[in-house]
Amino acid sequence: MQDTVTLGRPDDFHLHFRDGAAMASVVPFTARQFGRALVMPNLKPPVTTVAMAADYRDRILRSVPLDTPFSPLMALYLTDGTTVEEVARVADSDFVHAFKYYPAGATTNSESGVTSLSKIYPVLEVMQRLGVVLCIHGEVTDPTTDVFDREALFVEGSLQQIARDFPVLKMVVEHITTKEAADFVVASGANVAATITPQHLLYNRTSIFTGGIRPHFYCLPILKRETHRQALLKTATSGSAKFFLGTDSAPHAKNSKEACCGAAGCFTSHAALELYADAFDSVGALDKLDDFASRFGAEFYGLPRNAGRLTLKRESWTPPDEYSFGGETIVPLTVGRSLSWKLL
Ligand code: NCD
Ligand code: ZN
Repeated sequence: MQDTVTLGRPDDFHLHFRDGAAMASVVPFTARQFGRALVMPNLKPPVTTVAMAADYRDRILRSVPLDTPFSPLMALYLTDGTTVEEVARVADSDFVHAFKYYPAGATTNSESGVTSLSKIYPVLEVMQRLGVVLCIHGEVTDPTTDVFDREALFVEGSLQQIARDFPVLKMVVEHITTKEAADFVVASGANVAATITPQHLLYNRTSIFTGGIRPHFYCLPILKRETHRQALLKTATSGSAKFFLGTDSAPHAKNSKEACCGAAGCFTSHAALELYADAFDSVGALDKLDDFASRFGAEFYGLPRNAGRLTLKRESWTPPDEYSFGGETIVPLTVGRSLSWKLL
């Protein structure tokens, strides 16, 4: 039995750091494991310009522990009002790497998102021409649509439409949760990729309701049926360069998760690589983890691979049930369970 696995220093291509004291609590977890992370712009107010991203990046850097070789990669929040000039500024920037498309109302802090696809056609045209990456939260937002169907319907509608009208636009379908999304990415050209979270590789929708309601399994897009989890695991471990690591670690204070209307988002950055190692190990595919975690994402974004290596050891351990989060606490996805891999 394999007892260690060594990886190139990995990247997290989808992550929420928040801001202020809360951010200062969570940045060290990511900086310890990853060389870079694409930081999502869904702050209040959202990060919509290169100038705002520069300020946010400076604030993040002040939270990175000394002597940690970690570099934040920034993304801008796409709105109905995003200008073609801003797209050109992103293309010229060396620290903003993508735009994030949130359909308005799809998820946490998406109120300023895009209200209709036609409104962003002029900026998508420029992104395609200048090679700027579009990261997509792929869910329809009609509140009458069943929450478990929202991703598949987005794939069949908006995603097919974007791919048809912008055939060489570089896009990343974020945190995919369904076989339909995985199949779409496989069938597309090399300009289309996807990130996959640890929770969607490890858990299914029954996990949310096992023995009671478990708010720390609630994220968007929501966990799906076991058949989808298996399809994602197969895809993530297939060796295809179109699929890479993006944790979507999304910290919310304990009292806003454990509430009568709990917030969406799973916190995983305290044990991100360990969770992925458990998932890959479950199908005997630890040999596929290095490319998924440290190579394919960097190649898609046109970045060099990180220097340095990390080793995980097969060792059972139980992460704490809570971590501090500014003046509050966060409960991680792993609450009440143990992991089989540990970062050395
Ligand atoms: C994210 C958050 O909390 O910011 N929540 C989530 O459930 N994933 C937003 C997002 O990525 O959808
Ligand atoms: Zn996210």
